[in-house]
Amino acid sequence: MNTQKWITHFESNTRLNHDLPLPDEPCTLPDHVRIPLAKSLATFQLGESGGGTRLRRYTRSIATLENLRGYQRAVDLFVAEEQSHAALLARAVTHLHGALLRKQWTNSIFRWLRDLVNLEFNIQVLLTAELIAEVYFGLLALRCSDPVVQTVAKKLLRDEMGHLSFQRDFLFERLKTLTPAMQRLWRWQFQLIHLGTAFVVAWDHRDCLHSLGVTPADFRSRAVRCWNVFQTRLERRLREFDAQDRQALVSTPGYSRSNSAVIQSPTS
Ligand SMILES: [Fe+2]
Ligand SMILES: [Fe+2]
Repeated sequence: MNTQKWITHFESNTRLNHDLPLPDEPCTLPDHVRIPLAKSLATFQLGESGGGTRLRRYTRSIATLENLRGYQRAVDLFVAEEQSHAALLARAVTHLHGALLRKQWTNSIFRWLRDLVNLEFNIQVLLTAELIAEVYFGLLALRCSDPVVQTVAKKLLRDEMGHLSFQRDFLFERLKTLTPAMQRLWRWQFQLIHLGTAFVVAWDHRDCLHSLGVTPADFRSRAVRCWNVFQTRLERRLREFDAQDRQALVSTPGYSRSNSAVIQSPTS
């Protein structure tokens, strides 16, 4: 994994969030839009505000792996970027005269779920939330007329798309070591958890979505499309890696088709 690329990216990108200028205009949204929007953004703000303690602890367990050298530093910077999102969202909630949250049920489930298995699962749950965030901030950027919310949503959308790419790089490194059957199993549970999350988020944020003219069903189908794009790209990389691996094996001196049944790629 090219962790240096991500370290450089996070170092320069997060700085922009700290100084992001927001339009100096009062909120003019009608209450039937402003109130559910503020509540919805406050939930996302809480989700972004974690300290990443467990994620950092998990990453220490793989710090010695050669192909993930520098990953720990990249994760530290990634967590800092998520915290800068929390700060930006707090500014948006305040602008909407909303209240910040200290606890919220979907956020509690999300945190519990993340620590259920291991680092890969923690990243996967995080990734699920980021795929949902891509749809959510994309909709806000498109449909919310408030310039402050729009500015924040556009920046967060760009950043989360970067995060999706960061998580894909990591998952590729981990999944390429699995057999195709295990990769399919991983895909299946990832899809199931993502679908469940999209359902819960669409329901929990239904008032905000309605105020933006979006139905929960529309939100869910957009979420499924984003998941498909992500998964298709990940699987393409895994297929390419598998093909290269086979090619390298065929070029190995002493290898022939006749003994291919004996010498097999670890990913075959
Ligand atoms: Fe974020
Ligand atoms: Fe993120």
